[in-house]
Amino acid sequence: MKKVGIIGVGEYLPERILTNSDLEKMVDTSDEWITTRTGIKKRHLAAVGQAASDLALKAAQQALENAKLKAEDLDLIVVATITGDMPFPSVASIIQDKLGAKKAACFDISAACAGFVYGLSVAEKFIATATYKNALVIGTEVLTSITDWQDRNTCVLFGDGAGAVVLSEVKKGGIISTYLGCDGSKSGILNMPAGGSRNPATSETVRNRQHYLKMQGNELFKIAVNTMTDAAETVLKQAGMTFADINLIIPHQANARIIMAVAKKLGIPQDRVYLNIERCGNMSSASTVTALCEAVQEGKIKKGDIILLDAFGAGLVWGACIIEW
Ligand code: COA
Repeated sequence: MKKVGIIGVGEYLPERILTNSDLEKMVDTSDEWITTRTGIKKRHLAAVGQAASDLALKAAQQALENAKLKAEDLDLIVVATITGDMPFPSVASIIQDKLGAKKAACFDISAACAGFVYGLSVAEKFIATATYKNALVIGTEVLTSITDWQDRNTCVLFGDGAGAVVLSEVKKGGIISTYLGCDGSKSGILNMPAGGSRNPATSETVRNRQHYLKMQGNELFKIAVNTMTDAAETVLKQAGMTFADINLIIPHQANARIIMAVAKKLGIPQDRVYLNIERCGNMSSASTVTALCEAVQEGKIKKGDIILLDAFGAGLVWGACIIEW
């Protein structure tokens, strides 16, 4: 098996910003409630007409530049998203055309907030087995396109953005261990009820607001803390490591309270946890990868550092990954 590492990172956050005080004018909420319950202060919003592939393209171009590769060098494009431009074709296919990555095989992954870790794990196998040489893995979301702006329980939480990484063979370090899991029995806790084959779009589904994300937040909170803790412990055990070996945790950014509860359970100090939730909210599959990208760009990750990615989301699915940078 070949060693596989991240050789380039990129991100794109749309220009429009929605602050907590903007939300105070839209629903019965307050900056104080949102800040103390979630840690979120503002989030980025895609422009009208800007789709998941538009965000992904900019992140992908930056990642390719950072990796010093050309689009034609890519053998595989994997896009994690739950808010693709349309149900089909895949965002990966659209990106292939926009980038000019003519020889790349392309598909999307639906693993919600754990989508980037799922995508990373799948792409890694293609390179480790020498099937492909270079892969682009993207997490991109326009979550605000499925946000119910009348529902204060959910609309304060989400934002739009995209992040991308280029994976390739490395001589040293790279991905040490990945762990993926799912509990489909809890799929009803977080979903979008209509728009698929179960409830195709009708005027009634639109009237009933079934094309928006629905979430039992309180129930999810407890599961998220336990699941992310278990996933981190499992992937470390697989790698034969302990938390003392980890320089930085890059968690999925659903709620700062969830992240800090996980860090506390794991005995990890707060300064070893990377957060961008205050500025970005929850961007589902884009959260973990943009946080990783920002941590690299801010110099918080150095060569040789051991990084732990830890995510969970609708499915319910979860994934964790240890990388030597
Ligand atoms: N502003 C003001 N009040 C709000 C509010 C808002 N935006 N949203 C909910 N409330 C109210 C509720 O109506 C409730 O009022 P009540 O006690 O009168 O019924 C009260 O605040 C507490 O609600 P609760 O749901 O218990 O709050 P919470 O502390 O659990 O925080 C979440 C809510 C959604 C922030 C939190 O549960 C969470 O982050 N859950 C997990 C989310 C998640 O992981 N999502 C994605 C997975 S990837």
